[in-house]
Order: sequence, then C-alpha cells, then structure tokens
Amino acid sequence: MRRKLIAGNWKMNTSYKEAEKLSKDIISSISKSVLDKVDVLLCPPFISIGIVSKTIKGSGLKLGAQNVYFENNGAFTGEISAEMLVSAGCEYVIIGHSERRKLLHETDKMINKKIHKVLEAGLIPVLCIGESLEEREDEIFEGVIEKQLTDALQNISKQEMEKVVIAYEPVWAIGTGLNAAPEQISAMHRFISEVVEKLYDSEITENMLILYGGSVNEKNSKEILSACGVDGALVGGASLKAAAFCSIAKDASEIKVT
Ligand code: PGA
Repeated sequence: MRRKLIAGNWKMNTSYKEAEKLSKDIISSISKSVLDKVDVLLCPPFISIGIVSKTIKGSGLKLGAQNVYFENNGAFTGEISAEMLVSAGCEYVIIGHSERRKLLHETDKMINKKIHKVLEAGLIPVLCIGESLEEREDEIFEGVIEKQLTDALQNISKQEMEKVVIAYEPVWAIGTGLNAAPEQISAMHRFISEVVEKLYDSEITENMLILYGGSVNEKNSKEILSACGVDGALVGGASLKAAAFCSIAKDASEIKVT
C-alpha cells in the first residue's frame, strides 16, 4: 500500500541553529503513531543538512535537499552533487521547484538531467510541476503540465520511474495563501496520472505518489489531503512551525489513501 508523504520545504529559511532547533521541535511534537503510517520528510537549506541529519538520526524522520546539480564533481562553483547529498544522509531531493524554474531559469532539460543523476545515486526525486496563473486562466494548463512531465521524464526507465514522486504545485497557490479547490486538485492529480500512464503504464501509476503543494497549512490540510488522488503534501511556510507541520502530518495519518 502507498504510504503518504508529508514533505517540509524550508526554502531559504532558518540559520544553522534555528534548523537544529526546528528539527528537535518536530521530533518532540510528532507521535510514533504518525510516523508508523506516514513518511515525514525535512528539506532544510544545504548548509544545515549535516546538523539536521545528526539531530533526526533514529527518529524516523527523513531527510532531503531542495536542489542538486547534475554533474558528479568538478569545477561547478557553488553546486552540490547527488553523491554529496547521499553522503550527508539525504534520501530525497526536490527537483524543478517553480521558484528555481522562475528565478534561476531552470529548464526542463536541466530538470531531466538532475532526475537521471539523482536516481543513479539512489536518491528519490520529488519532481515539482505546476502551471502559472496566466496559464490556468488561458486554459492551457493541461498542456503545460503534460510538457513538464514528458520533458522531465525523458529516457527515465520504468524501473527508475517506480521511485519518482511527483508534486503538483500550481504556481499561483505557492506562498500566496490561495488554494486550489479540492475538485481542481483531484482533477489535476487524475490528469497527471493519465499522462504518466500514457508514458509508462498503470502499474506505475497505481504505486506513484502525487503530492499537492501550495499554501498547505494546519487549517486546510484535512480538506486537501482528503481530496481524491492526493498522496501527501509539499509544505513550505507551514513547515517552519513545528506544531503546524506535525498537525498536517497527523491529518495525513488519519486519512486513507484514495
Ligand atoms: P507554501 O510553499 O506552502 O509556502 O505555499 C510550498 C512550496 O513551494 O513547496
């Protein structure tokens, strides 16, 4: 059975000390019964991955990064490789977040290279896709999502695809306090599933996790996580507050996968 995944994307927040404290607070606020049912993932800034890894050791929490580079090593100043992330204790890595696509001009081609590299290193990629407000209003969002998926998954084998997690994050809902309605979310998750089924087969989609992201918080998490086809959430702002984040994870543990 699919286990839900609640992922906290801390973005460019928390100092080294604050990251240590936040992970300690999450450990003390989360119950074992939640971790028995749900995978809970922390994605701190690169600089704090070491301390968070040390702090959460043995707690059942999982560790991920917010980005990765697609080369093994060498003269790529400022970049971090998949192997480095593995050596620091990461199991997951967020790839293609809309903020990186927009602000750092990350292309689908780069995202595809990153997915290949990450899978090679044994990490689980959390591939972010989502349309802008303009694309939704122009009613071209399905085409946008289909292209993002098709390009990101170029030459990813069926066996590799079994490890890929998808996060649907409509750009207009990220950090804005706006939420997609549960029906919109379910419709998009169904559409994503159909696209992946076309690219692979139903065996893949039956086991594939599709997370929702965009202003998920402790007040709306029950409704969002209950929407059909939602297997978890990628949480930004609310993941910086231990109580809110743990409450979202608790909601996930109480809702059946549909
Ligand atoms: P948000 O961010 O929850 O603050 O909207 C989500 C994300 O960008 O992953």
